[in-house]
Amino acid sequence: MNQTSPTPTASAPDDAALIERCRQTLRANDRGGYAVPSSRLYPFQWNWDAAINALGWQTFDEARAWQEVEWLMKGQWADGLVPSIVFHRPAESYFPGPQEWGCDHLTPPTTSISQPPVLASMVRRLRERSRDPQVDTRVRALLPGLLNWHRWWHEERDPEGTGLSVIYHPWETGSDNSPAWDAPLAQVPAATRPYQRRDTGVVDGSMRPHKAEYDRFVYLVDFFRERAFDARRIYDECPLRVADFALNTILLRADRDLAHLCTELGLHGAARQLLDWADRSAAALATLWVPALGRYASLDTRRGRLLTQRTHASLLAWYGGLLPVPAPGDDGPADPRSAALLAEFEAFMQATRHGLASTHPNESGYDPRRYWRGPVWPHINWLVAEGLAEHGHAEQAARLRAGTLGLIRQGGLHEYFSADTGEPLGGPDFSWTASIALILLDSGG
Ligand code: DGY
Repeated sequence: MNQTSPTPTASAPDDAALIERCRQTLRANDRGGYAVPSSRLYPFQWNWDAAINALGWQTFDEARAWQEVEWLMKGQWADGLVPSIVFHRPAESYFPGPQEWGCDHLTPPTTSISQPPVLASMVRRLRERSRDPQVDTRVRALLPGLLNWHRWWHEERDPEGTGLSVIYHPWETGSDNSPAWDAPLAQVPAATRPYQRRDTGVVDGSMRPHKAEYDRFVYLVDFFRERAFDARRIYDECPLRVADFALNTILLRADRDLAHLCTELGLHGAARQLLDWADRSAAALATLWVPALGRYASLDTRRGRLLTQRTHASLLAWYGGLLPVPAPGDDGPADPRSAALLAEFEAFMQATRHGLASTHPNESGYDPRRYWRGPVWPHINWLVAEGLAEHGHAEQAARLRAGTLGLIRQGGLHEYFSADTGEPLGGPDFSWTASIALILLDSGG
């Protein structure tokens, strides 16, 4: 964002009209208890979308916000997994469906993988903004499931107790086709069976992952099913096994937020367990700092290599709570990681007209219109801005929030936007884009 944020055009709706449009989008995507992210591209309930959409709902319908969370948790497995997708009702326009995952016998059917665990943090936020005098009844009912999911991340996905939880499918990171996953994905064989993608029938193929990536995405879906979801076998044998910095820092924050909720509701033993996990994670995440680059890396634990591609992920360190909060009036020397990351934030903001690019344009895998290889994602901007603001970087947070709203005002409620031109990309009438606009406008932009 090397110029000021996009100037709203003459036809840009004013805030009241934009709020109404966002509400209508959520209502139109509502399937009764859950909102689909975008009706044809993603016709089910997605995990981290649901957590963020709950905040969008809360700005005008709190009861509906809690339903969004409760419906997502209907998909939880007995071992604790909260799946990336809950297929509450059949729909034809998406691949891979529940049969491909081998999970069509479940009620409701789901995928066999997870997604970034923002949910506990969003539940804390919902509670803090609640107007419902009975809110703690709802929170209390959610706590065992949330705790079980966090236990799953720390035990099933970190069986050696390293402090870093691993993913087996790029879709679990949320940044599905980021250049950061190119090298680990190259170790995955391509699926040889025929399959029919549906996404490129809905959205132009230039905005979606390449076929070579899908061949490997599908191989992994089959791999989990063929091993009957056996956690230990998959940990030992899966050709892709990565500790994603972004996911682990999101989990760290979520552990602390869940510990806070447990303490508030009198579950002190659970809170202690969560804070122990959080301490272990914070120590392990600190080892992913690469001083020569001035940013964090992810770790390919299958091959023992750092993944240092320049993506937005490092900028989530504030949100995750990895950096010290300056004391009021503290003008001593800044923590070197904070100073380097602030410089990295500015580098991202200067690199394109509309920050934050999901991949820095200097990175060889940069592709300005393709999903996670360049475009701006409103929810990532919002998470980064929350972290900046919480660490005293109010000006940076305000700039990022204003830029995000500017993109939405100008381009509409699309899934993602070109960082270079602001062109709206991906699925239309997108629920979490509407939710982010509602959250930003509700808190004064
Ligand atoms: C996809 O692109 O289909 C994935 O499910 C999104 O995470």
